[in-house]
Amino acid sequence: MAIKRRDFIKAGAVLGAATAIGMPSLWLKNADLARAQGGEIKVGVLFSLTGTTGIIEESLNKATILAIEEINSAGGINGMQIVPVIEDPASDPATFAEKARKLVLSDKCVSVFGSYTSASRKAVLPVFEKRNNLYWYPTLYEGRECSKNVIYTGAVPNQQQDEFIPWLVERFGKKFYLIGSNYIYPQEENNYCKKLLEKLGAEVVNEEYVPLGHSEFSSVINKIQNTQPNVIFSTVVGDSVVALHRQYRAAGLDPEKMPMASLTTSENEVAAMGGDAAAGHFTSAPYFMVHQSPENEKFVAAYQKRWGDDKVTHFVSEPSYFQVYMFKQAVEKLAASDITPPNIRDAVKDVELIAPQGRVRLERENLHTWLWPKIAVAQSNGQFEVLKDSTEWQKPEPYAAYPGQECLEEGLVGA
Ligand code: ACM
Repeated sequence: MAIKRRDFIKAGAVLGAATAIGMPSLWLKNADLARAQGGEIKVGVLFSLTGTTGIIEESLNKATILAIEEINSAGGINGMQIVPVIEDPASDPATFAEKARKLVLSDKCVSVFGSYTSASRKAVLPVFEKRNNLYWYPTLYEGRECSKNVIYTGAVPNQQQDEFIPWLVERFGKKFYLIGSNYIYPQEENNYCKKLLEKLGAEVVNEEYVPLGHSEFSSVINKIQNTQPNVIFSTVVGDSVVALHRQYRAAGLDPEKMPMASLTTSENEVAAMGGDAAAGHFTSAPYFMVHQSPENEKFVAAYQKRWGDDKVTHFVSEPSYFQVYMFKQAVEKLAASDITPPNIRDAVKDVELIAPQGRVRLERENLHTWLWPKIAVAQSNGQFEVLKDSTEWQKPEPYAAYPGQECLEEGLVGA
């Protein structure tokens, strides 16, 4: 590959500056690690294929690979192929960190697509911040993060709850039971939920957390029966979603009287538990598989052709897919020798595309995404029926639960 004169001069300028301030040669080698090389763009794919959140993360891996394959078969990015390096961090935050270090330092990936749980995102965050690399995170999460090294394409609490909580209160009543897995995401998401409930004059009858991977919900169900809430608000994740729904149904509880309202139950968990266990329960998310748009028809058909007719798409696999196209749009703007993580981060600001859910945009201030919230009810056929669709895309406000604090391009203000 010919080195352009402009790039040669730029490299010389960096070298000169580093020498002038006495940086060790090791620093120069490290600075040079994450850069597209040899006509290839290496990226990491870091989703669990095993362990408690393997149930959902293996579909995020599949959506990411599908997008990469589509881009490559259409000629790549400016003629360069994307080369994925796939790792299985086995639902374990420490393994996430170890694999992230490998992808950044040994494999020299210019970006990594990964994580379902916030626990795993928090575990890899120092790896990306220390090396000024870039992590693309497709999952709904609790907000309250303002990193220059993460691109967030899933929903934050204001995008899932602002419409959902008042809708639930109006429809079912004011007594809420909060049940979540025991880690940062459910705790912070419930923090936001409680603020909304308070404004609406609603009440939390119990707030309870179970360990990740928990599968025995009889004591939770006893407490639900004793407290008789109007709504069970669930931020339980992974295999536990399946266990909770099945045991709820086995206990004879009725979704018409006491539904579960979830931010983490997608078509994927519904497929695992069976449509009958899910039917009648509600989810709020920016994407459902039944969404009607030409882009979604294409996505679902391509996903099923690649991975099997029985496979479902859902509100985390959809951002896993479209964020690779955001990556493409950003990298397309760069000369081959400029494809580094900080340049990709700068080039993705304000990128817009028509995703399966509708037009989405990467907000330049906080590196989160404008999305289209929806409210839907699960059906026994395994799909959701959308009951409320947004008329406008919604701005991501990762600090909505913390008035006065805001994530801006210059960093977190008001903290
Ligand atoms: C999550 O942990 N962000 C679902």
